[in-house]
Amino acid sequence: MSLLAALDYPLDTPPATALTPRLRVVLLGCGTVNAGVLAGLEAMETQVEIAAIVTRKPRPRGDERYAWLTDITAAFDTGPDLVIDGLPDCAAAEKALTLAVERGIHIISANKAVLARRPDLEARARRAGTGFAYSAAVGGGVPVLETVARLKVAGETVTRVRGVLNGTSNFVLGLLEKGVGFDDAITAAQAAGFAEEDPSADLDGLDAAAKLALIARAAFDIAPDAYAIAADSLFDLSVGHVLGARETALRYRQVAELVAGEKGVTASVRLIALPEDHPLARVENEENAIEVCCASGTTIVLNGKGAGQAPTAGSVLSDVRALLAEGRHR
Ligand SMILES: NC(=O)c1ccc[n+]([C@@H]2O[C@H](COP(=O)([O-])OP(=O)(O)OC[C@H]3O[C@@H](n4cnc5c(N)ncnc54)[C@H](OP(=O)(O)O)[C@@H]3O)[C@@H](O)[C@H]2O)c1
Repeated sequence: MSLLAALDYPLDTPPATALTPRLRVVLLGCGTVNAGVLAGLEAMETQVEIAAIVTRKPRPRGDERYAWLTDITAAFDTGPDLVIDGLPDCAAAEKALTLAVERGIHIISANKAVLARRPDLEARARRAGTGFAYSAAVGGGVPVLETVARLKVAGETVTRVRGVLNGTSNFVLGLLEKGVGFDDAITAAQAAGFAEEDPSADLDGLDAAAKLALIARAAFDIAPDAYAIAADSLFDLSVGHVLGARETALRYRQVAELVAGEKGVTASVRLIALPEDHPLARVENEENAIEVCCASGTTIVLNGKGAGQAPTAGSVLSDVRALLAEGRHR
């Protein structure tokens, strides 16, 4: 047998043995993101055990494979090693992550709103040596935070980050360009799993602002208040504006930007009519595109699926694999 044939497990993850305890996981939420995560974890059953799944509405009896709960504290009492937060921005999510930090339970989260609002949670978890990862919170499947972190390790100084960071807004703008009405465009984004029940944070620019806050933390070690970042709202744009721009070869895009200057870091989320051949204007549907510029002249451009089940769950699962590779739950 060749060496390659013998390696039937991912290279970055140690093989589970009969003596290796499985990682006990509580899923917080089982909607678009965590339903995809659950499917991925099912394929990792030699290494991962689902301790409980928390949802807002009780699940009808029938799926006896998992403990479906609606009480977050009861789920934590099952003694998990890891919680995976796929909740919307809500008080319950903030309370859950606080409890996880207090109990020393590793956290993986896609919930950029809560992560941006509560930088103290990450700081406390890191001080305690508790795992705290959120690759999916910015860029969905696009490795934005990972790239910024690697640039820092390489000794680069990030000077500017600019991009289309909100897949929902971009998807809606694309439909407006086709003459679809605002409400129908939002409904289509929800049906495709990009927009949440309440899409206002996406369309008002708050979601992109929260992502900028997380990028600023990674790039500049600062924790700006996402609510204080100036943001334009898509609700102020009419289908007429969007179609008018198209007539002059312009495309509206929601552009999020961080700039490090002599007086500090500035952040904004703006709706800008860009020439249609501009790299950010060419971003289609739920895609994200991010340009990271460094003082050395190095510029990295990232493109990919910024929202949706497969790319977002994929990022969460990569955080799970990294935690398994560290073997910290043993
Ligand atoms: N969707 C994406 O493409 C994407 C991409 C990147 C990041 N994110 C982030 O990932 C998170 C999840 O997004 P999603 O699209 O998966 O949301 P979603 O489809 O709306 O699912 C949310 C889940 O949370 C549960 N839930 C809501 N409130 C709860 C509460 N108070 N207690 C217990 N459970 C509660 C819901 O329960 P029920 O099933 O009973 O309603 C549902 O299972 C959000 O923070 C979002 O910003 C999403």
